[in-house]
Amino acid sequence: MLNRNKLNKGGFLITFEGIDGSGKSTQIKKLQNLFKKKKIKNIYFTREPGGSEFGNKVRKLLLNDSNINFTNESQILLLLASRFEHYNRFILPIIKENGIVISDRFQDSTYAYQCGNNKKLYDILKYLNYSLFRNFEPKLTILLDINPKLAVQRINKRNKKNLFDKKTLSFYKTVRKNYLKLAREKKRIKVFDASLNKDLLFDNINKIITKEIDKR
Ligand SMILES: Nc1ncnc2c1ncn2[C@@H]1O[C@H](COP(=O)(O)OP(=O)(O)O)[C@@H](O)[C@H]1O
Ligand SMILES: [Mg+2]
Repeated sequence: MLNRNKLNKGGFLITFEGIDGSGKSTQIKKLQNLFKKKKIKNIYFTREPGGSEFGNKVRKLLLNDSNINFTNESQILLLLASRFEHYNRFILPIIKENGIVISDRFQDSTYAYQCGNNKKLYDILKYLNYSLFRNFEPKLTILLDINPKLAVQRINKRNKKNLFDKKTLSFYKTVRKNYLKLAREKKRIKVFDASLNKDLLFDNINKIITKEIDKR
């Protein structure tokens, strides 16, 4: 069976994962600034849901349209349709040209957020990942791990209107657990303590990403 990972000689995908408020956007911004300063080229930043015109529509639908109560199944299908576009139109062409893509969220988010504790949903996702992406995986995943209580405090500070209730906290506890479970199964996922201060955390993240880039 064709292994798409073997198609990329020098190019690869790095992903950032973690619950909302864990600091993904903050760390990615720092990385962008550093690459700009160092004039490092051929690195492209993107995010999910999003990354294509269709993906941005899905993002709006799932994140902003509170009138529609999507089932987890529908969310998985929408997210995978959007990822399929993102992957084929954006990520894969860059990787084939030996470029590096850095994405704010990718496939692990769908497992952690949409599958909950539900094996049936996980099986659906696994099947679709195989059928659509031939089990393509990022080369490296930075998982920002944080106590959901602290993440919610951060988010409330950022935007007072965005109040999280108890149910949301328990939801994020499950999401965190799913992420950590995945990290135990997959060596590409490196777990970072996201409660550290921004600069210390960035030093740690930058070290591992630089190592990966220099390996090429
Ligand atoms: N290491 C950190 N320590 C304290 N606050 C942080 C840290 N990283 C991010 N924040 C703050 O927490 C909030 C959420 O961070 P953000 O990067 O937007 O998280 P995410 O993209 O994962 O949702 C922002 O207000 C940000 O300034
Ligand atoms: Mg963010």
